[in-house]
Amino acid sequence: MIVLGVESSCDECSFALVEDGRRVIAEATYSQIEEHKRFDGVVPELAGRLHVQRVSQVYHECLKLAGLRPQEIDGVAVTNRPGLLGSLLVGLGFAKSLAWAWGKPLVGVDHILAHLWAPQLEAPLDYPFLGLLVSGGHSLILQADSFEQVTVLGTTIDDAVGEAFDKVAKALGLGYPGGKVIDTLAAEGDSRAFVFPKPRLLKRDNPYDVSYSGLKTAVLHQRDRFLRPGAEPSLPNLCASFQKTAVDTLLLKLKQAVQATGLKRVVAAGGVAANSYLRRSLGAWTQVQARYPALRYCTDNASMVAGLGYNLLARGEHHGWALGAESRVRRFKNGLR
Ligand code: KG4
Ligand code: ZN
Repeated sequence: MIVLGVESSCDECSFALVEDGRRVIAEATYSQIEEHKRFDGVVPELAGRLHVQRVSQVYHECLKLAGLRPQEIDGVAVTNRPGLLGSLLVGLGFAKSLAWAWGKPLVGVDHILAHLWAPQLEAPLDYPFLGLLVSGGHSLILQADSFEQVTVLGTTIDDAVGEAFDKVAKALGLGYPGGKVIDTLAAEGDSRAFVFPKPRLLKRDNPYDVSYSGLKTAVLHQRDRFLRPGAEPSLPNLCASFQKTAVDTLLLKLKQAVQATGLKRVVAAGGVAANSYLRRSLGAWTQVQARYPALRYCTDNASMVAGLGYNLLARGEHHGWALGAESRVRRFKNGLR
């Protein structure tokens, strides 16, 4: 079964054709990053408008790359939640038009679940596993029992981890998005130069929750307090120390979740799963079998959307033309489980 995936939940406009949920035939992705850079972050109104301008072109590029005709496509899967409403609506409207014109079924898929499908594009993955879904909008520690059954164990009580990378980078004048720049600078720095505190949240009911506002404040406004005697307060050292603390905060909770659940499989996904220190740390963790997607499938892409959608379409499921977009999904919202 060949599924067309459509992704436009934030600042990437992406189309992909994927066979049987795993074999990526073609993907075309237009990232708006260059357009948002001068604002040091994604401007929702601009993102929606840019999707409108590019959506048709990216779709045609994907079909051309695949060398397929619409008749050979069996269904359409589109991200319809969560995300920026204006951006989501562009992809959703376009996906509906195609499915209607072709007389093919349409399914709306969850962006978070799609990120968790991303490693499956390379090799099958057994359930259950513990997931670390880390991006600009989410920091979730979760248990996945199937491609659609996910229980959130912990989340951030304030900023998402990717957001913390982006805000720190912005304040340091490193531009947007911040994750990759900080990662690159950190490679030349000493992560022990600054000893930033990790949050200690006393949340008996939600023991796997994390927080990033304290770390952000420490890095931006109190950094001298945390410089080790004799250490050099250089930018690479600051980036390396921030990155280590940000990632270790997640890994600490993940390790507790591994102990509590006894699960030995761990999957990291989302934009921050591209972080080299996170990947190195997970790879070195001998008690668990860690998986993370290839770098190109960590950030937003339509291949993961088509892959996840295949599972629903293959079961004969589809949505009606009244399918709407949702900016938030209750079960993934901070504090709600
Ligand atoms: O999944 P994604 O493309 O979009 C969202 O759904 O948010 O993730 C984007 C986020 C940004 O915050 C970006 O700074 C972060 O992923 N990111 C990284 C790295 N590459 C991207 N964070 C840390 N290290 C990286 N190498
Ligand atoms: Zn994403």
